[in-house]
Amino acid sequence: MNFMEKAKIKNILEVGIINTIRINFYYFGIKGIICPYIIASRNLKLKTLKGKVIVNNKTIGAIKIGFGSVGILDKKYCRSLWENKGIIEFLGTSNLGAGSRIACIGHLILGDKTFINGNSSIICRKKVIIGDNTVFSWECLIMDTDFHEIRDIGDSIIKNPDRDIVIGKYVWIGCRTTILKGSFIADNSVIAACSVVTGILGKENTVYVSNSPKISNVKWNY
Ligand SMILES: CC(C)(COP(=O)(O)OP(=O)(O)OC[C@H]1O[C@@H](n2cnc3c(N)ncnc32)[C@H](O)[C@@H]1OP(=O)(O)O)[C@@H](O)C(=O)NCCC(=O)NCCS
Repeated sequence: MNFMEKAKIKNILEVGIINTIRINFYYFGIKGIICPYIIASRNLKLKTLKGKVIVNNKTIGAIKIGFGSVGILDKKYCRSLWENKGIIEFLGTSNLGAGSRIACIGHLILGDKTFINGNSSIICRKKVIIGDNTVFSWECLIMDTDFHEIRDIGDSIIKNPDRDIVIGKYVWIGCRTTILKGSFIADNSVIAACSVVTGILGKENTVYVSNSPKISNVKWNY
């Protein structure tokens, strides 16, 4: 048995039948039981099942939540979390890996073949768009809100409102990266490990360390 076959069998053993039935029935009714578009692992906590989920690829298991592993994760202790009071839209297949956490009261759009690796989190209060084939390494954090408002003393205008995040296609986000409100990342970019992204990263095929372009005209292997 090769590595891929072993991983597939492991994933089957980790399927959370109750979780899978609950999430599909809530969002798609009986249709979702007959054809579960979302396959959830036992290690997923369905904290808030509200809002809406839109799935464009209507095949069994187009969306996987809580599977896979990277060497440094102890899967027993990294539970995935689903908290949806907004709209989560899957444009194709997506893999939200072990320990990945989604908290959405806004509109989260995940492109085709997006891969969110272990223990990464997305917090969406307004709008977060992630392009096709974009990969997040482990322990990344994406949030389009600061949670606390900042105002000038004596002024009522909020200086740090929630702002959309747009991440392009074929972007590779290195481990432990944080992407904050208002960020834009161009297609085919690489974001170095532990970056903090806060601005417009507009040049395609570029390696960025945080907001600074470091290496131009590159292509990374998916
Ligand atoms: C982005 C990355 C792929 C670039 O690798 P590379 O092409 O070999 O680049 P280099 O190591 O030559 O670095 C180029 C420059 O960027 C800097 N740099 C690279 N990564 C950096 C980081 N994470 N933080 C700060 N600076 C960094 C280097 O110091 C160097 O700066 P200099 O030109 O001023 O000397 C690599 O640095 C990285 O972050 N890898 C981690 C990927 C990851 O998270 N993988 C998890 C599995 S998906």
